[in-house]
Amino acid sequence: MNEKLRVGSGRNVDLAIASIFGKLKANIDFSFVEEKHRTIIFSSALPNEGKTTIAVNVAAAMAAADKKTLFLDADMRNPTAHQLFSIVNTRGLSDIISQGADWRQFVFKAKVPNLYVITAGRKPSNPSRFLSSERFHSLLTELSAEFDYIILDTPPILLVPDTQIISAHADGVVLVIKNGKTSRDSVKEAHETLLRANANVIGAVLNHAGKKESIYGYGYGVNNRTPGRPHGAPPKRPTHGTSEKPVPPGVKKPAPVSK
Ligand SMILES: Nc1ncnc2c1ncn2[C@@H]1O[C@H](COP(=O)(O)OP(=O)(O)O)[C@@H](O)[C@H]1O
Ligand SMILES: [Mg+2]
Repeated sequence: MNEKLRVGSGRNVDLAIASIFGKLKANIDFSFVEEKHRTIIFSSALPNEGKTTIAVNVAAAMAAADKKTLFLDADMRNPTAHQLFSIVNTRGLSDIISQGADWRQFVFKAKVPNLYVITAGRKPSNPSRFLSSERFHSLLTELSAEFDYIILDTPPILLVPDTQIISAHADGVVLVIKNGKTSRDSVKEAHETLLRANANVIGAVLNHAGKKESIYGYGYGVNNRTPGRPHGAPPKRPTHGTSEKPVPPGVKKPAPVSK
């Protein structure tokens, strides 16, 4: 592929086609017509579905559109985003929370203008407890005052509760689905888990598409936001329809969604 978004100086993602991630950005924008600052989680039912890859590239697309964007690696169990940015993860989110430190001391500037990164930091013994903390909640509030977009990378939904915990404090969640691998049941269960956590699921990215095997045919919806927003934010707008779902690199759109 010729058009790659270079977010770091080293290893780069193969699938990154700027226009596709721009489209994904536009879909996300469409979900939040009224809001200026947006905190968006990229997660998946299971590991290795491509959430870090997609999240990093969407963050780069946001930044390329002149939006001050922060990539926050909240996958403290298996952090890898720093590799895509070619930076080290010696300290980061976990240290901000445990030390009650000022996040400004932990921000990296990526190679892409307008793009900033906070890595996951040292692995805590209990990441869920960190993410449930008042300190993490207030950190998100502080960050959302500073950045136009905050893109969060989180662990797999069906393995650990971390994403559920954070999701109610984010403006939206995008589910990344590995085409041909993740079962309908797993996707459905992940989606339902998010809804139970009061998450605003704004869409899905079908990743690794373009392969022969396909998982089209299951539908899972975009929910209308339930009340009870974090940090005093107003209720979110209802999500867009299925025809506006984010479309991943080089793939077809997922099947129609049943609401
Ligand atoms: N669309 C894609 N095409 C090819 N390789 C991909 C694609 N998406 C992800 N990958 C690769 O798959 C692996 C897992 O992706 P990653 O983003 O780390 O998944 P997750 O964060 O869900 O565990 C990585 O090696 C990544 O480079
Ligand atoms: Mg990951």
